[in-house]
Amino acid sequence: MGLLGRLLWTLGTACVVTVGATGAADQQVFSVPLDASGSCTMFWRVDYARRTLQVEIHAVLPERAWFAVGFSDYGEPSPADYCVLWQDWRGRTRLQDSWAEGGRLRVEGRQHCKDFRHTRVGNVTKFTYSRLFDTCDPHDYVIEDGTTHVVWATGAGPLFRLDGVSLLGEGTRRGMQRAQLLKNTNVDEGVPADAWTLDVRAARVQVPAVDTTYWCHVAKVPRQLARKHHVVKYEATVQHGNEGLVHHMEVFHCEAPVKEQVPLYRGPCFAATRPDATKVCKRVLAAWAMGAKPFVYPKEAGLPIGGAEFNPYIMLEVHYNNPENKSDWVDSSGIRLTLSPTLRPHDGGVMELGLEYTDKMAIPPGQPRFQLTGFCIAECTEVGIPVGGVRVFGSQLHTHLTGVRVVTKHVRGGRELPELNRDNHYSTHFQEIRRLKRHVQVLPGDALITTCTYDSRPRPNVTLGGHAITDEMCVNYIHYFPKVDLEVCKSSVSDASLQAYFRLLHELDGQATGPHLGVSDNYKTVDWTPVRAHVLSSLYAESPLAMQCNRSSGARFPGDWSAMPSTSILQPLPAPGRHCANLHHQDHDHDHDLDDDAGPEHPDAGGLMEDWGQGDTMKWETNGPN
Ligand SMILES: *[C@@H]1O[C@H](CO)[C@@H](O)[C@H](O)[C@H]1NC(C)=O
Ligand SMILES: *[C@@H]1O[C@H](CO)[C@@H](O)[C@H](O)[C@H]1NC(C)=O
Ligand SMILES: *[C@@H]1O[C@H](CO)[C@@H](O)[C@H](O)[C@H]1NC(C)=O
Ligand SMILES: *[C@@H]1O[C@H](CO)[C@@H](O)[C@H](O)[C@H]1NC(C)=O
Repeated sequence: MGLLGRLLWTLGTACVVTVGATGAADQQVFSVPLDASGSCTMFWRVDYARRTLQVEIHAVLPERAWFAVGFSDYGEPSPADYCVLWQDWRGRTRLQDSWAEGGRLRVEGRQHCKDFRHTRVGNVTKFTYSRLFDTCDPHDYVIEDGTTHVVWATGAGPLFRLDGVSLLGEGTRRGMQRAQLLKNTNVDEGVPADAWTLDVRAARVQVPAVDTTYWCHVAKVPRQLARKHHVVKYEATVQHGNEGLVHHMEVFHCEAPVKEQVPLYRGPCFAATRPDATKVCKRVLAAWAMGAKPFVYPKEAGLPIGGAEFNPYIMLEVHYNNPENKSDWVDSSGIRLTLSPTLRPHDGGVMELGLEYTDKMAIPPGQPRFQLTGFCIAECTEVGIPVGGVRVFGSQLHTHLTGVRVVTKHVRGGRELPELNRDNHYSTHFQEIRRLKRHVQVLPGDALITTCTYDSRPRPNVTLGGHAITDEMCVNYIHYFPKVDLEVCKSSVSDASLQAYFRLLHELDGQATGPHLGVSDNYKTVDWTPVRAHVLSSLYAESPLAMQCNRSSGARFPGDWSAMPSTSILQPLPAPGRHCANLHHQDHDHDHDLDDDAGPEHPDAGGLMEDWGQGDTMKWETNGPN
């Protein structure tokens, strides 16, 4: 076992306490509960230098039970890549690298679950192992930046062999949890000593008995904000029990003259009774979506709030997702802002990239991987970003239910630069605002191209762009400093191209489309086939763009943005290297002493083990199961 293994073994005692602590980067241990009852927890640590993940599982299990933990693309139990702890008939405890196919475990030829150790304290089985991010084995999952779906399964033992064991059988418990495994270990979570918190919360909202509600709640900020502050951190305060109801929340500033009063409207955002005077509440201050952890600003910047020129009204918008149309939801969720009167060197801002929220963009049904792309074109950053540029430090990717992958590419003068953000295993249920591992400088004339991939196989009908949870979006909210006037840099297909397409679809392909129908109805009337889906995809790729190149005030930058060319990538970025060439060299020491698995390992009698056990007991008494 390497040094890292021993460290984790020791640190296992203090896992929960260690999370978020500001210790040396490679000492950070993260954790996530694997099931709702808290009876199993995964701890992990990331070693970027060795491109290795150290995993430790604590699970309440019957004696001799087997436990499989691993990864799959979107949380399916099979196909998936597992490391499995199990006991054979001779009482030997083993850890084997396996993959699942057709719901059954298959044992790998080459073993990549390494540095195995295990113990049992009371009814808790604990084991640890390490694994390369990319083992270069075709059966193994590659751990990447972004979302990882951790899958697990457990059943009764002992077993005479692991190969062929069913993951789906009766008596097998299993589950899935999403986590960002390759955490940014350089985030300082500290806030200044003089910081205070402001809760922006809806007050006992009687959630309407419809599937989608955007609830608007206008509030006036306290007097202390007559002086300018910086928001240095914010997080959600979701009412206990309503975690599944509250889909996303945003806090907006009401961009009105400082003396102007804004009505304290509390009601559905799209209601006819919403006063027009609240429509100015649209400058994003904070955005949270399901699954996101607290967002902490880098020490160079904070989000400005308050001051002599600041209209004191803000608005919370809560997206309630109530698919069962329940009438008895009452909710007081909101966002907690941490504010510092000591200003940092720069004001931070939020910019929206991607697709305009419009039914002009659509996803045909039955498509395994349909892509929509939203452009922030060179012409828009040219006018919207001053010389000197901005530094992007955070990003929140956003789609609704069918989104499975999101990437934002960065182009300068036709040459593609390293990607701004990518999530190959995106889930709408895990929209963290993530601090980027490197700040990205964006200069005037750069283009940022956001592509979302959708899986519309479960949909019988076309999915339109729009606000409802059953509609789709493709957005990247980027967090940057210093703040500039450009707030929305998004596109959609130009109106003229779309109208021409509907006309041609009628004339050449016999569809009932045409100018007599609105955009939504045109899309809905098409009888979607793979060929028609392909043609739509080409239309989007080749048509000019309608650009939303808007200032914070909501007004467009001057000019005609209705039919702009999309920015093309003349020199694409080479595909990322897989670090596979060095693998044999790195592995050489281990290879010759492995038989067919990483076990058996026998628990040590004392020392570290005792420490570990006591720490665990303490943890379970104070933290779980909950
Ligand atoms: C495991 O042990 C704890 C403490 O000894 C006990 O409270 C819990 O009920 C046990 N759980 C199971 C599933 O046996
Ligand atoms: C909930 O209401 C929506 C309309 O808001 C309707 O389309 C949907 O079928 C209803 N769902 C249920 C489960 O009743
Ligand atoms: C799909 O469209 C048909 C025809 O408009 C409609 O009857 C059906 O309810 C739609 N299905 C869904 C899931 O929206
Ligand atoms: C952008 O500006 C145009 C023109 O003022 C406006 O119609 C549109 O709603 C704005 N878009 C956004 C997303 O603010």
